Amino acid sequence: MLCVSLSSVASASSFPTSFPKNFKWCVATAAHQIEGGNVNSDWWDWEQIPGNVKRGERSGAACDHWNRLDEDIRLLTELHVRQYRFSIEWAKLEPVPGTWDDGAVAHYRRELKLLREAGIEPMITLQHFTLPKWLREKGGWEWDGAPAAFARFAAFAFETIAPEVRDWVTINEPMVHLTLGYLAGKQPPSKKGSMADIHGPVVGLLKAHAAAYHAMKARHAELKRRLIWPFRPYRLTKELRIGLANHLRIFDPASEWNPGDSFIAGKLDAAFNWAFPMAAETGRLRYNIPFQADVDELIPGLAHTQDFFGLNYYTRDMVSLDLGGQGFKLSVPEGADVSDVGWEIYPEGFYRLLKATAEKFPAMPILITENGIADSRDAKRAQYLESHLAAMARAMSEGVNVEGYCHWSLMDNFEWSEGFEPRFGLFEVDYSTQTRTPR
Ligand code: FCB
Repeated sequence: MLCVSLSSVASASSFPTSFPKNFKWCVATAAHQIEGGNVNSDWWDWEQIPGNVKRGERSGAACDHWNRLDEDIRLLTELHVRQYRFSIEWAKLEPVPGTWDDGAVAHYRRELKLLREAGIEPMITLQHFTLPKWLREKGGWEWDGAPAAFARFAAFAFETIAPEVRDWVTINEPMVHLTLGYLAGKQPPSKKGSMADIHGPVVGLLKAHAAAYHAMKARHAELKRRLIWPFRPYRLTKELRIGLANHLRIFDPASEWNPGDSFIAGKLDAAFNWAFPMAAETGRLRYNIPFQADVDELIPGLAHTQDFFGLNYYTRDMVSLDLGGQGFKLSVPEGADVSDVGWEIYPEGFYRLLKATAEKFPAMPILITENGIADSRDAKRAQYLESHLAAMARAMSEGVNVEGYCHWSLMDNFEWSEGFEPRFGLFEVDYSTQTRTPR
């Protein structure tokens, strides 16, 4: 279990591994992957189409977490985590535009109450890959009403569901969400285009993030002004922090000696890793992928809309220039140690990206919002955890300001187009009985 692994890290690593006392150990999940019954989401429909999810699987009841809140929050208590990152499902809360579902609101309020009673601090994600069906039908992030709709949802969620929560993530992995949806065809809307095709949704998503940021901050300020102690009907967080969960990957040249590989690897690093969070900092979206996209655009209201840097890290890609295809090819180094889903296990990359983040965003605290491994036989998980925590400790010992670490995931779950086969959980789930067993 997590706490046991930590003590073994301390002895196994040569880096200083006593983490600060207030360091936030955390685990992460996402609503669609664990709750079940997300019938009003775009993913629900998409899963019904043969070929979209491996083995024809569908999220269905998932881990039935919707009906097992008490039991699952006990799992968090067993892990002794201080924080829990989870998402609230927009499609359940607003199944019809402008109409909030009382049952869903009550459900999430109860979840918040249970977490409070367990002494666990929530970190809430507002959008983790899924959208309400109605929004997808209007064009998803390309619909010009999307930013306002997302802002309305964010402000409602903050005020009505969780005004006491300090840390919020607006969008999970914007670039993964968009490249899988618009380039790889592995998420709705299932398009197979080029980097040029993600420009519209990237801008829409950035505008939506900014609109949600400002709407929540405005609600927070307004509530602070209005609700003067002791007349507050509920607790209100003193400080409200809003960020993104940025998926960072290492892009290394497949051949160090090939300048073309280095060139294109650098372009991917800039576009995939940094363009989005940089835009949220500077207000300016800039990326360039030769022959595909050259973007330099100011987005009003976007600057300084990230209070912390949420960092998801899993793996690295080797990149080679491919003039015939989409400009580049990604691969895994020959003979590399990989997880069940074929991702290279590369802890050094975690260290490198932490250092790069601290260099590019010097004033921003970093929260590790995801890191983990698909390993159904538990053959590599302990070592993965140890080596990645050691890499993080090394960066911290060199001054990188990491406030907390969320492991992906609390339990096995529906891994999107990969279906139920990948096992990322610290708790194993037997889907036929919904039994959870600690690994
Ligand atoms: C991340 C996603 C998360 C999960 C992990 C394995 O990209 O944010 O939902 O699928 O990968």
